This record gives sequence, C-alpha cells and structure tokens, in this order.
Amino acid sequence: MTEPIPHGIVDGADSITGIVLRAMARTPDERLRTVMESLVRHLHAFVRETRPTEEEFERGIDFIVRLGQATGPEKNEGILASDLLGVSTLVMLLNNAIGRGETDAALLGPFWRGNSPVCSNGDSIARDAREGEPLEVHGEVRDLQGHPVAGAVVDVWQASPVGLYENQDPAQPEHNLRGRFETDAQGRFHFRSVKPAGYPVPLDGPCGELLRAQDRHPYRPAHIHFMISREGFKTLITQVFDNSDNCIAADVVFGVTPALSGDFRKQANGAWRLDYRFVMQPGTRRIPTPPLP
Ligand code: BEZ
Ligand code: FE
Repeated sequence: MTEPIPHGIVDGADSITGIVLRAMARTPDERLRTVMESLVRHLHAFVRETRPTEEEFERGIDFIVRLGQATGPEKNEGILASDLLGVSTLVMLLNNAIGRGETDAALLGPFWRGNSPVCSNGDSIARDAREGEPLEVHGEVRDLQGHPVAGAVVDVWQASPVGLYENQDPAQPEHNLRGRFETDAQGRFHFRSVKPAGYPVPLDGPCGELLRAQDRHPYRPAHIHFMISREGFKTLITQVFDNSDNCIAADVVFGVTPALSGDFRKQANGAWRLDYRFVMQPGTRRIPTPPLP
C-alpha cells in the first residue's frame, strides 16, 4: 500500500489548499500532477470567490451527475456543457492557432459520422426528395505556399433546411447531406446541396436548463462542416458559416471566426452558391474517432 504523505491537518479555510497540493505532490505522471495542481488552485480560488452555500454546492454536483446521466448513444451532454461555456472552442483555438495563413479550425461537433458516402465532384448530397433551396459549393484546397493540394479527401456534412442532421431526424434518408469528395489536380472540389438552416443545440437535458436559466438563445448560425485530410498535412476540421444568418455574431458555442464567415450568394439561376478557399498546413493526417457510435 502507498505510504501516507504527512500533508498536515486542516486548520481553517486558508490552510486547505496547500494541504491538498501536498497530498497530491507524489503523483508520478508529471503532466497529471501539473494539471491536477492547477485544477485544485483554480477550483479553490473559484469557491473562495463565489462562496457557494451548501445548497448551491449540492445543486452544482447534481448538475454534473445529470450531465453524465443524460449522455448516451444519441447525445454527449458533457461535451455540450463544455461547448456552451466556450471551453471546447478555447481548447480548439489553443491547439490550432498557428497563424501562418492556414484556414481557422472549428469544432468537430457531435454529428460527424465516419463512413459517409464516397462521391464524385458535381454530385448532390441532398438525398431527400423534400427539397430546400438549391446550393452549389465550390471549394479549393491550397498549401501554405498557395499550391493546389490534389487528392485531398473532403468530408462534408450539414443540417437540413429544417435545421436537423440526418442522424437526429428519422424523416431523412440515411447519409442525407453527407458526402466525401476528392480534390482534382487543381485542388478543387464541388458539390450540390440545399441551403442549410441554423439550428438549436439539444435542449432536453441539464444544458437546456442552464441556457434557459441564463436567458440565452440556443442557436448556431447556418453552416457546413468540412474535414479535409491528406497525407503530409494536418487534418483541417472546420465549418463555413452563412454570414447573412442573424446569429452569425451570437453562436451559442462560440465557433465563428471572421475568416469562417462565408458569403452564400444567390445566382441568376435561383440557386445559392458558396465559394471558399481552404489552406492546409503541413503535419500529420489524423482522423478523429466519431463522437457518437
Ligand atoms: C455542430 O456544429 O454540429 C455542433 C457543435 C457544438 C454543439 C452542437 C452542434
Ligand atoms: Fe453543425
């Protein structure tokens, strides 16, 4: 058994932080020790600042327990809580902000599926007969020097014109509004679709309660997700937003950056069109684990 560390006896609220830090000081994994020490220092400072009553503390613990209970094969309420507090976007920005001209990254989100249909350039990903407003998306993929990136896999997914992803909506056909394309020799790809709508994040769990208690709206502005990967490049996971959406500056999960606000233009033929240039940086191709099974 591990020998006890004589970390001291608690003698009032001022003494406990140092004692807890001493109790954890032997953690062999250096990274775990650093993270846990910082967590304890910040948590104790937060408690000192907010001075929760015992009843408020019970409510806080109950909220965390219910995040776990509301999580299952359909929904991850833990990630959603982190999204709504801006933590997911902060982690993503700190891990991706390089600033050499590459496209900004954005959240993967909970709705990506790992096996969407392989498509040819020009194909439509709108597999539902009940159509929305037609949209043509023309993208090009470049490296940091401006050279085309040929042979990149461009995985796209989006919500329907009623603001639901196919895996949330039994009325949509399997893999509706999803597809995997490949860039041509000029680094270009294009596909047909329908204009996505903005949508609310799931509201039926503790996160919905929190948004209501904070008098916050639950919407994300309309967007299309892109995951672009090729050997020799860091996989680019991003979203392009419709800059005419009235929530463009009020994304509930804080995912919009200036460079990701896209221009959806109405053409003479009545269809909408989005043109966007993606810039990839050198690195490792890594495909994430799908958020839901
Ligand atoms: C999404 O972009 O699909 C998304 C991101 C965070 C929370 C909910 C949805
Ligand atoms: Fe989304």
